[in-house]
Amino acid sequence: MVKVLFVCLGNICRSPMAEAIFRHLVKEKGLEGKITVDSAGTGNWHVGEPPHEGTQLILKKNNIDFSGIRARQIDQRDLQTFDYIIAMDAENVGNLRRLAGYNKTGFIGRLLDFVPDSEMADVPDPYYTGNFAQVYELIQKGCEHLLETIIKEKKLEVKGRE
Ligand code: 4NP
Repeated sequence: MVKVLFVCLGNICRSPMAEAIFRHLVKEKGLEGKITVDSAGTGNWHVGEPPHEGTQLILKKNNIDFSGIRARQIDQRDLQTFDYIIAMDAENVGNLRRLAGYNKTGFIGRLLDFVPDSEMADVPDPYYTGNFAQVYELIQKGCEHLLETIIKEKKLEVKGRE
């Protein structure tokens, strides 16, 4: 099983959106039995809460299911358990590396680094910008490229591919 964890600051806006979108894409490709998806925040302020209303609205608009998603804080075990730890911005990456210290972890990187020629490197925080539509577009694109990379790296067989 390939284990993917999306990480942001609060785990209510960006990373739960990425979790829901990625879960949707994984399902579309018939890879539910091969890839597991989760998300967590580096902060603990919103633990137990469902996604932010702005995230819920844009996911509903795009028919992406987000049932069961609740905020939680990342811990040491996550860093060792997950194969791909995908952060939304450089600050998240810094926090993850600090938390990991010298411990061995799965791959830690930024979502938009998977998008060739991306104009942006960080997914802006809609908790402050209010622009959930822009964040949706960026995360959607990032998730598509991330999934293609994982399929190649892990040599996964995709449903309906010639
Ligand atoms: P997120 O957005 O990291 O995309 O979930 C935030 C949510 C909450 C806070 C900051 C960012 N906060 O400070 O409570």
